[in-house]
Amino acid sequence: MTVTRASAPRAAQAATQAISATGLRKSYGDKVVLDGIDLSVPQGTVFSLLGPNGAGKTTVVKILSTLVTADAGELSVGGHDLAVDPQAVRAAIGVTGQFSAVDGLITGEENMLLMADLHHLPRREGRRVAAELLERFDLVDAAKKPAAGYSGGMKRRLDIAMTLVGGPRIIFLDEPTTGLDPRSRHTMWGIVRELVADGVTVFLTTQYLEEADELADRIAVLDGGKIAAEGSAEELKRIVPGGHVRLRFTDPDDYRSAASALREAARDDQALVLRLPSDGSQRELRSVLDWLDAAGIEADELTVHTPDLDDVFFALTGSAVPARNNQPKENAR
Ligand SMILES: Nc1ncnc2c1ncn2[C@@H]1O[C@H](COP(=O)(O)OP(=O)(O)O)[C@@H](O)[C@H]1O
Ligand SMILES: [Mg+2]
Repeated sequence: MTVTRASAPRAAQAATQAISATGLRKSYGDKVVLDGIDLSVPQGTVFSLLGPNGAGKTTVVKILSTLVTADAGELSVGGHDLAVDPQAVRAAIGVTGQFSAVDGLITGEENMLLMADLHHLPRREGRRVAAELLERFDLVDAAKKPAAGYSGGMKRRLDIAMTLVGGPRIIFLDEPTTGLDPRSRHTMWGIVRELVADGVTVFLTTQYLEEADELADRIAVLDGGKIAAEGSAEELKRIVPGGHVRLRFTDPDDYRSAASALREAARDDQALVLRLPSDGSQRELRSVLDWLDAAGIEADELTVHTPDLDDVFFALTGSAVPARNNQPKENAR
């Protein structure tokens, strides 16, 4: 058999990637949702697709998990071409949708056993797997109660436990922590880390920059139907302007003398705020403080701002940052 030069590397690459998409397109009517996107996710890594509401995240998940067909694109999941062998793809993956698959009328345990049946596990094996997962996800006490009474965090945990019944090597988690309280969100992050430690590949969508920052090996920002940027959190942070020290004054005279002396500072005359470019290092901070002392000027507030994914998001999409628990953006560090 002869293999053309052009196709050999691509085939090899697709084989080592758990998920790969090239030129993925999807429209609904005349609304273009995905305008030709490329993605690749190496095995055993966490990939995060980040984007605001309506960006097309769920559409990507539905396409890659065979629930919706793409208009165009070369797609491969678990080494199987989606167009050729969707059945094999389905066997390799688990999907936890944005909206829960949990049946509230039956108990957590019954939900698990139902999944075991769907995966054609022998009865005894099904019981064993269900018990193991209920234990692992801290649902033993709740297992005999109707799932309708579960908290949001418990429902998500049950949802993921159900996804794991078939032992998938690739898992899609569509906004797994949206609407969860901070504690349940941290529990969920722990679950994702455990999955990856087991060698599972996780494709995670989120609106939360800090979540992508926390979990993902690689992040792609989806905006306007295209991938606006792709890379590690560190790489993405490098594309935005560096950090700064922010000085806020209440005395307009202090503000004016500081502003005229610190020429490189960006001024906000209304708020009496100066922003000085800074790497946030101790040395740079000390020099700012020393200078203020020497000039006999007292700033009422000094905060250090290092670039985070919020800045990246803003720089790339120019749109407001999605809700993130009303945390203040400026953190004193
Ligand atoms: N079945 C559908 N029919 C028509 N439009 C849809 C359908 N599914 C999604 N859309 C539209 O596609 C866009 C992307 O939706 P979605 O993938 O759900 O975004 P996200 O998950 O990022 O919030 C939205 O404008 C949505 O209204
Ligand atoms: Mg969605």
